[in-house]
Amino acid sequence: MTAKKALITGISGQDGSYLTELLLAKDYEVHGIVRHTSSLIANTSRLAPVYQDPHESGRRLFLHKGDVTDAGLLVNLIRDIRPEEIYNLAAQSHVRVSFDLPDYTANVTALGAIRLLEAVRASGIDTRVYQASTSEMFGLTAPPQDERAPFHPRSPYGIAKLFAHWSTVNYRESYGMFAVSGIAFNHESPRRGETFVTRKITRAVARIKAGIEKRVYLGNLDAVRDWGYAPEYVEAMWLMLQHSEPVDYVVATGRSATVRDFAEAAFAHAGLDWRDHVEHDDRYERPADVPELIGDPSKIAREIGWKAKVHWDELARIMVDADRAALGEGA
Ligand code: NAP
Ligand code: GDD
Repeated sequence: MTAKKALITGISGQDGSYLTELLLAKDYEVHGIVRHTSSLIANTSRLAPVYQDPHESGRRLFLHKGDVTDAGLLVNLIRDIRPEEIYNLAAQSHVRVSFDLPDYTANVTALGAIRLLEAVRASGIDTRVYQASTSEMFGLTAPPQDERAPFHPRSPYGIAKLFAHWSTVNYRESYGMFAVSGIAFNHESPRRGETFVTRKITRAVARIKAGIEKRVYLGNLDAVRDWGYAPEYVEAMWLMLQHSEPVDYVVATGRSATVRDFAEAAFAHAGLDWRDHVEHDDRYERPADVPELIGDPSKIAREIGWKAKVHWDELARIMVDADRAALGEGA
């Protein structure tokens, strides 16, 4: 039997790396698009556990240099690989950064998605597409947010993702494509980028505990988020593409905490009091923030059996332990 093939854009990111591990464990042949950088062949540090040298025989992980801003590359790759499944995870995914780089964010995060959908159409192959949509699209809408909640994005990132979301719906309705949008709430892990608030906090806890630093500067501590564990969220992506029907789902834990709660739990796990180490800095405030995101994941639980197991307080402990272990500290 020939292996199923998947193509992942954003394979070098937090989710891309976990999804690669999941698909390899399910015997897929995995192809990923990685960006060119001036200093490395590609940024593949998160893929280290599964990276295979191009000279190895029987290899099932293939990295292709590329970019979702290049339409021709996408058509050629899809036509050559002929994947059964495509996961569009590539994005300029930082909300604060999107206020500084709105044009760039729109090009990658919004137009990247429609380029990919058009490339699927142009290549003429039968494939299933997962679009990484986000709770940021709900923005100012009061929680709990489910699949019927109105959208009110609050950043160039949220707006770009909303364009990508509606493009996915539109290609499904217009061309009968199996294209689905997973509206994922925040999900974190030890592989989370270091400037997102959870990882910024847990990394600071480890460094403060080790005596390397004394404090961490944060912005809005009142923001409420529904934080889940990234390895579980990539399972939801895969399940959505195995479903008999193309359906969009909210992917969330249904529980929530403030940034302050998360900081308190993370510092406490290392035996520290957050109030001794957290200071405010205006530069981490946003021109418009999203006050409260709490998902209602009942539809995905009911229809495809996905349910989050790790909640924000356990997540804080997992991430602190990992950041401390990386410094050779902790249990
Ligand atoms: P991430 O760690 O920021 O990863 C983003 C990935 O996109 C990286 O591999 C990055 O490559 C790649 N990328 C950026 N610009 C690109 C371009 N022009 N062409 C090709 N690749 C490009 O994000 P994540 O947390 O794994 O999230 C995965 C996806 O889910 C993103 O689309 C994000 O917006 C969305 N999402 C995330 C969450 C969350 O809480 N994590 C929630 C909802 C939705 P480099 O490694 O080279 O930078
Ligand atoms: N990054 C950051 N840094 N955020 C801070 C800080 C800080 O120093 N201080 C407070 N915050 C607040 C932000 O204002 C926001 O309200 C909250 O912490 C979470 O910020 P992030 O961790 O940057 O995540 P996000 O919620 O803006 O966006 C993430 O989740 C989205 C899903 O809801 C990203 O992963 C997006 O790509 C994703 O779509």
